[in-house]
Amino acid sequence: MAKVLYSVTMSVDGFITGSGGDMQWMRPYLGPNPEVDELVPRIGSLLVGRRSHDGDDPHKGEPGEGEAFGGGWSGPAYVVTHRPPSAPESDVTYVDDFAKALAQAKAAAGERYVNVIGANIAKQCLEAGELDEVLLLFAPVMLGDGTRLFDHPGGRTVRLERKSVTETPLATSLWFEVVKD
Ligand SMILES: NC(=O)c1ccc[n+]([C@@H]2O[C@H](COP(=O)([O-])OP(=O)(O)OC[C@H]3O[C@@H](n4cnc5c(N)ncnc54)[C@H](OP(=O)(O)O)[C@@H]3O)[C@@H](O)[C@H]2O)c1
Repeated sequence: MAKVLYSVTMSVDGFITGSGGDMQWMRPYLGPNPEVDELVPRIGSLLVGRRSHDGDDPHKGEPGEGEAFGGGWSGPAYVVTHRPPSAPESDVTYVDDFAKALAQAKAAAGERYVNVIGANIAKQCLEAGELDEVLLLFAPVMLGDGTRLFDHPGGRTVRLERKSVTETPLATSLWFEVVKD
């Protein structure tokens, strides 16, 4: 059965975007990453928040703009939104219900990962007890403002068990399993 993975590039101070949703901050860290290369063929589907789908692209102006993993991956994407557009888009299914989108993404992924894109959607996976793993690619930078990896006003403790630590030329990655209480 598919596992649900939140994989994301994060600043050292815990932000996944810069101020105002800026994603150009990531450009210096987009180079080759053997761990990402290994992960990509293990992804069977994407579960995407609408803000991520519509948002700034670190590959702007380059080949791979608008594509998952800068063009490194292709397959079915399920975009969670209250505003499904009427025009069809290749490989993209808009779903106006989180639970239905997750179920469809899991069915499409088969034995591979559902890769979650978007902090809000990852939080909903967590709250539903459906987030299995987290892969953090730590970029050596601090941003001071932006979208947090995990935002829960009032706080919430989520325990993680470390599976691996990998040094790559441009980032340090930590792969965790979510401890389900
Ligand atoms: N650093 C990285 O590696 C990385 C990777 C991916 C994304 N990002 C960035 O992360 C940011 C997005 O994260 P985010 O947390 O702000 O947003 P998000 O999770 O991408 O999307 C949230 C949006 O999804 C829709 N949605 C959420 N739950 C829903 C539900 N239950 N039913 C229907 N629609 C629902 C809503 O959009 P509507 O109401 O408008 O439809 C909501 O505003 C973007 O700026 C993106 O560029 C960074």
